[in-house]
Amino acid sequence: MAFPIQRLRRLRSSEPLRRLVRETQLAPSQFILPLFVVPGQGIRKEILSMPGNAQMSVDNIVRECQECQKLGLGGVILFGIPAQKDETASGAYDPDGITQQAIRAIKRDVPGLLVVTDVCNCEYTSHGHCGWIKDGDVDNDTTLGWLAKTAVSHAKAGADIVAPSDMMDGRVHAIRQALDTAGHTNTPILSYAAKYASAFYGPFREAAESAPQFGDRRSYQMDPANGREAMLEIALDLEEGADMIMVKPAMAYLDIIRQARDRFEVPLGAYQVSGEFSMIMAAANNGWLDLDRTILESLTSIRRAGADFILTYFAKRATALLS
Ligand code: PBG
Repeated sequence: MAFPIQRLRRLRSSEPLRRLVRETQLAPSQFILPLFVVPGQGIRKEILSMPGNAQMSVDNIVRECQECQKLGLGGVILFGIPAQKDETASGAYDPDGITQQAIRAIKRDVPGLLVVTDVCNCEYTSHGHCGWIKDGDVDNDTTLGWLAKTAVSHAKAGADIVAPSDMMDGRVHAIRQALDTAGHTNTPILSYAAKYASAFYGPFREAAESAPQFGDRRSYQMDPANGREAMLEIALDLEEGADMIMVKPAMAYLDIIRQARDRFEVPLGAYQVSGEFSMIMAAANNGWLDLDRTILESLTSIRRAGADFILTYFAKRATALLS
């Protein structure tokens, strides 16, 4: 049956019709807002490359979280920037570290909000790499111990979900085992399973002060050219005990999101990363793109590709647009 009987424009002719047949929905509960926590009090330091985002001290993070709770967001994900960095990332697994303090404060004052924590070392090492450096490269197996300790300290502080983003081999297994041994059998692991060595992380490195001081992350993060390998990364993380998986970045990797959705049954997240945010903001601030429409279209495309939830710096604005 074709034209002139069939006319696809019929179902596009009014907003009520379009709404009825819309295949993909956005909701605030699908959005997770990344937050950057720093030591001190009363601090709100704008991140220049990410307009509207700021490094905040714990008191201001709590206030921000109260707003997120009111908006009905899915949750927040915390990135800590410690006062001091060292070669062993000791601030990452310090029971009284900056992230652990923030978790406890949020859980005390905003108990209903879902708190995810990024488990990685790059914000905590003096050289900005994601683990112990041996012979000029990150040593996988030494780093696993740090990650496990960090995840346990986050769970102990009250984190609802731990999310390893380091891309070491075997980290999910190491974290699961450590969590279980410490009695946190019910703390889920959201694995940044397919995380690419991406240029789109540029602004984040300012936000988290985590730019590598030498080299790059290509010996542990994935080659943007590889799709099959992403499925292998995900399958291995699931075998090791990941409860949920993530693809990162999002918009340049929609094919990976789709393949993962088709192949695996677990909840799937996607991270609309700093560069995706800043790119849209910069174009909008120049008057080249309509900000609000671009936000909704970009998030819709990530959901349409198959993501259940999205880590996005637009979480609050998108929520305002949906209400
Ligand atoms: C930490 C981490 C990074 C991001 C999330 N967790 C940076 C990196 O891998 O270099 C990037 C997030 C973003 O760009 O918004 N390893």
